[in-house]
Amino acid sequence: MSAAARNYIQIHAERFKEQFKELLSIPSVSTLESHRADCERAAIWLAEDMRRAGFHKVDLLDVGWHPIVFGEWMGAGPNAPTVLVYGHYDVQPAEMADGWHTDPFQPVERDGKIYARGAIDSKSNVMAQLKAAEALIQTGGAPVNIKLMFEGDEESASGNMSAFVKANRERLNCDVVAICDGSMADREQPDLAYGLRGVVCMELEVHGPKQDLHSGHYGGTVHNPIQALAEIIAQLHHPDGSVAVPGFYDEVRTPDETEREQLRRALPWIEAEWREVAAAPQQWGEAAYNLHERIGTRPTLEINGIAGGFAGDGFKTVLPGKARAKISCRLVPDQNSQRTYERLRDYIQKITPPTVKAELRLIETGEPAVIDTNAPAVQAAVRAYETVWGKTPFFVREGGSIPVVVDLQRELGKPMVLFSFGYKGCAAHGPNEHVYLDMWYKGMTIMTHYYEELKQRITG
Ligand code: BES
Ligand code: MN
Repeated sequence: MSAAARNYIQIHAERFKEQFKELLSIPSVSTLESHRADCERAAIWLAEDMRRAGFHKVDLLDVGWHPIVFGEWMGAGPNAPTVLVYGHYDVQPAEMADGWHTDPFQPVERDGKIYARGAIDSKSNVMAQLKAAEALIQTGGAPVNIKLMFEGDEESASGNMSAFVKANRERLNCDVVAICDGSMADREQPDLAYGLRGVVCMELEVHGPKQDLHSGHYGGTVHNPIQALAEIIAQLHHPDGSVAVPGFYDEVRTPDETEREQLRRALPWIEAEWREVAAAPQQWGEAAYNLHERIGTRPTLEINGIAGGFAGDGFKTVLPGKARAKISCRLVPDQNSQRTYERLRDYIQKITPPTVKAELRLIETGEPAVIDTNAPAVQAAVRAYETVWGKTPFFVREGGSIPVVVDLQRELGKPMVLFSFGYKGCAAHGPNEHVYLDMWYKGMTIMTHYYEELKQRITG
């Protein structure tokens, strides 16, 4: 049955690509208020395309910020399983000045790739899901019922999604949750994620004198807030790379030997990707853990940005009144964002010298998650990747975060699969983000096989 859908994908490949470019040209940046209307426009575009694809029931759902696009196709009947497919259509900000070679919102096709903000994270995933569903629906129907849920707030930490999922259990009811976001470690070797880290984003502000001062008049008598901030930051890690916040590791669940062995299998690919994409002079971090373990199973504390004083052209002999840093922690099971924030806040209070005042504010959070790789729903995905790639996918634990995942796990209690189709070296969140078209088409084809596999393993 799904062979016709795969044929349809081939016949309509050009149109799919043009539509993908259309979506990419809408700057649906969820982190900036000024792009609110663009997010709305992207949502409407997707809703219309879902209708064209043959979804019976398509709605824009108000979650207080950018709408969720929700489409249902229940044509497989009550005895077939229902899959809830999650993706996000919002993107991170992008400007030419960040180092883009072409306008981030005017997609350019070059050497089998499309360059645009959102190309890899995550409009390619959204469109692969939508076009796979269209292909199936338009060629006699999918083997399973499909609910598509495309969020518009993921890049701004999904603040309202927890409440939305709780209030909409009925509507989201399904047999399997398919999350489609993220990317793979290699261009030739597929992988399937079974873990995501959580994240807690914070802002640290250090105040000294009541305002900026003349550094000649007061230098040497006032504790410079940038210096104090640097002194605080320098105490957040031990020299061995581990985090120095007391209790930080208390709830960390360490993988057993079987899991470590499994993680080692994907290690050469992850190391190769690190060399190509991170390309730092040398690895850094906790020596007792290999690169895959450090990315997927260990928590971190990062300084994302630091600001204060004067750093423009020329010179200003100023003693700044305050300094700020953005700090985030990646979390692993069984850590929790609130507790991590409180521990860091208390530690910073303790190490802040009496010469300045420090305040740590909690900005946004997402909890860590792992899924059961033995679940039939996951094994069906392994088969689908094998069929399309001709290779068995490695299981990997991802370093990134998708906040809604734990809400869906907790509220729906259904098996979950973490799909991704693209390559990690495609500059998600960075300049010249792109996607490989061959991998994108493979993604659609994987879904047509996946639904067939699922239908054989699970009933509705
Ligand atoms: N697509 C990523 C999440 C991701 C990254 C999953 C790598 C798997 C591998 C997502 O769009 C993202 O960037 N999430 C943010 C969440 C944050 C804003 C709360 C992240 O991880 O920083
Ligand atoms: Mn992202």
